[in-house]
Amino acid sequence: MPVSPSPRLRQALTIFPRLRTVFLVAISLIIYLLVFRRSSSAPFTTSTSSSITSTTSPSHLLFGISSSARTWPRRRNYLRAWWRPGITRGLVFLDSLLPTSPDDDRSLPSLRLSANTSRFPYSFNGGQRSAIRGARVAKEIFDAFDGKFEYGDVRWIVIGDDDTVFFLENLAGTLAKYDWEELYYVGSLSESAEQNGIHSFDMAFGGGGFAISYPLAKILSRVMDSCLMRYGHLFGSDARVFACSAELGVGLTREPGFHQVDLRGDLFGFLSTHPLQPLVSLHHIDFVNPLFPGKNHSESLIHLSKATNIDPERILQQTVCYDRNNFRTVSVSWGFSVQVFEGNKLLTDLMASQKTFRPWKRGRNSTSGIYMFNTREFPRDPCKRPAIFFLERLFPFMNSIVSIYGRDVSGNCPGIPISTRRLQQITVNSEKYYLKIGKVRRRHCCDVVDSFNDNTVMNINIRRCEDGELIAMQRQ
Ligand SMILES: *[C@@H]1O[C@H](CO)[C@@H](O)[C@H](O)[C@H]1NC(C)=O
Ligand SMILES: *[C@@H]1O[C@H](CO)[C@@H](O)[C@H](O)[C@H]1NC(C)=O
Ligand SMILES: *[C@@H]1O[C@H](CO)[C@@H](O)[C@H](O)[C@H]1NC(C)=O
Repeated sequence: MPVSPSPRLRQALTIFPRLRTVFLVAISLIIYLLVFRRSSSAPFTTSTSSSITSTTSPSHLLFGISSSARTWPRRRNYLRAWWRPGITRGLVFLDSLLPTSPDDDRSLPSLRLSANTSRFPYSFNGGQRSAIRGARVAKEIFDAFDGKFEYGDVRWIVIGDDDTVFFLENLAGTLAKYDWEELYYVGSLSESAEQNGIHSFDMAFGGGGFAISYPLAKILSRVMDSCLMRYGHLFGSDARVFACSAELGVGLTREPGFHQVDLRGDLFGFLSTHPLQPLVSLHHIDFVNPLFPGKNHSESLIHLSKATNIDPERILQQTVCYDRNNFRTVSVSWGFSVQVFEGNKLLTDLMASQKTFRPWKRGRNSTSGIYMFNTREFPRDPCKRPAIFFLERLFPFMNSIVSIYGRDVSGNCPGIPISTRRLQQITVNSEKYYLKIGKVRRRHCCDVVDSFNDNTVMNINIRRCEDGELIAMQRQ
């Protein structure tokens, strides 16, 4: 930020050298406050007093990834979207070993052959014995690293599938809220009420990933095989870990940022209405459409990660504002999409997910279309849909971040007002999101700043809401 004093001030500065010093000190202080206070937003601190240092970062996590020789060659591309060689630690567990090329080994975690599980019972009709192997990942990953690190070096064991995508800063930040020296089992349910009904309303669904604090992982590694003998009738690996934790008296701590994604088809409506908590994971990448139009599955994940890398805590966070001049409502899902609705839409209506997706279970069942979150219809008629924009590119600018969203042409409708028909691009300005541990997240506000170039570009500014500010078209 260039600061050039006016000629008169410059004159004063030469006359009063002391004033000059004061001026320079003041400027330095302002620059320090603007630049360093903002950029030092990364560390997450634990709220409780821990005997070890107080920040939980991605390097404190140890990952156990369940995979198989059949799925690994394709799905390892999903790991590439989030795995950070040299920072993240962990192993991928396979049912049989593959020939690997040396350059794979550097960018991805090492592969490990799971132990033989033929001595454990499995009796779920139509299920797969690999569930036992999957449950043992929680034990085998702990055993593999136990004694190889200092106490406090690994604070959480994180278990996921090979099609689970983790958002590392948000995962670490979410876990940092909890004292890792206590017994914790952190994750989330399925989005499908039916799946929760079938499997459990108390269990962390494994595909969304879950985290076990170090002391719980240590105990589980000792007792897991005993539990596996008693729970042969359960379907999945996650149900086995849940049962074993339950026998130890440890219940699930639910964090809504973990996503099992028991959904199919187009996730647009789901991803445009993320809860206020940070995005921690996505799963079932193969079972849903690519997240962005015109990109394949892995390209989409890499595209999303560009936004996540710049502002992890803001990714998918929904902000709603009103274009009062043109009588429109704008909903931003930061780093992913922007929607422009004609007329005045109430915030709580826009917080419900448009059903662009399908239920997980195929076939008619009264419960299969009941979700664990609020939904509303996504009109079949493209003229009744909002104008939709997807993330094109983004970059840091001064102390803020500019993200640019381009018009999705697929749902265009000739009948909509000319001001919206012309709109080709939305530019969103925001500051890096930073919330101190222990502070409550509050939805941000935004303003439609202006429109450029014959209404082809709309500029939006995201900011903290004022005290008592209401997110509504008319605020009287
Ligand atoms: C696992 O162990 C059983 C019995 O000990 C043995 O019959 C089987 O061949 C082993 N499986 C593998 C894949 O090594
Ligand atoms: C996705 O696109 C990339 C290149 O843009 C390509 O390398 C990759 O093979 C594609 N993946 C699939 C599954 O088609
Ligand atoms: C519907 O769901 C219930 C409960 O999961 C299940 O027992 C039943 O078989 C399902 N019916 C159909 C037709 O799929």
